[in-house]
Amino acid sequence: MVTAVITGASSGLGKEYINAIISQYPSVDAFWLVARRKELLREIAEEHRDKTIAAISLDLSKEESLDLFDQLLKENSPEIKVLVNNAGYGKCDDFFSSNRRSQTGMVDLNCRALTALTRLCLPYMLDDSLILNISSIAAFAPTPRMSVYSASKAFVLAFSKALHDELRPRGIKVLAVCPGPMDTEFWRVANVPEGKSRLIDKLPRVSPKEVAEGSLRAAKRGKMVYTRSFFYKLYRLLAKLLPHGFIMEFTEI
Ligand SMILES: NC(=O)c1ccc[n+]([C@@H]2O[C@H](COP(=O)([O-])OP(=O)(O)OC[C@H]3O[C@@H](n4cnc5c(N)ncnc54)[C@H](OP(=O)(O)O)[C@@H]3O)[C@@H](O)[C@H]2O)c1
Repeated sequence: MVTAVITGASSGLGKEYINAIISQYPSVDAFWLVARRKELLREIAEEHRDKTIAAISLDLSKEESLDLFDQLLKENSPEIKVLVNNAGYGKCDDFFSSNRRSQTGMVDLNCRALTALTRLCLPYMLDDSLILNISSIAAFAPTPRMSVYSASKAFVLAFSKALHDELRPRGIKVLAVCPGPMDTEFWRVANVPEGKSRLIDKLPRVSPKEVAEGSLRAAKRGKMVYTRSFFYKLYRLLAKLLPHGFIMEFTEI
């Protein structure tokens, strides 16, 4: 079965990728949806009864979950057309007084699990398939008070760029998706509710639906990095041109 694997599919951007893949890749008839909240995944499966949906409840920050996922791949040998490595979270905190586990958890989920899933899925990927790795505009320059998060997303960006080159001869297109702020559960999890950060409140929002649809099209065209909206494309350019010490004067959350 031609399959799409989406991590972090229970909410936000991950959920939008399901609809975007259905409309742009009608040949995909099976979806492996991975996240911790099984009930939400089951509800999503109910909404798409015409597709074969596997609701896979795993905490991807744990090593045993990665082993279980490996086992699932070996047992089912899916033909993977699209892999979306989307599961991730950020915490906004002073690093000095932050919780150690929530800081290292970002490395485990945003970097380690993403790397593991990419490696595990590769043998099952079809010719002319896509890998979308969800990074962030936070990858373009370090973000004070989201230091580990921005570093984790810089990892995703650099890793994806190198893989884009490495996997091209195999017909696998790799895209780093770098969205600006989206109104999803992300900010609640990050401990930045509305009104807490003037910077975040003021920044223009991008739509998760448009990010999912636009990034899939960009991946198909063979692009390496995707950023939505002129405002964040300009930020990407400025972060290349200006010293990061200067940029950080404005980006502290
Ligand atoms: N929202 C933004 O402003 C923004 C901007 C740039 C980049 N991003 C990136 O976009 C991606 C999606 O975030 P979102 O905005 O859609 O936020 P979200 O609604 O909080 O979605 C995060 C997803 O990751 C899953 N997840 C979290 N921890 C997990 C774990 N340990 N194991 C498995 N799944 C886990 C969550 O599902 P469960 O809770 O059910 O496990 C959820 O489905 C993330 O990588 C984020 O860093 C977000």
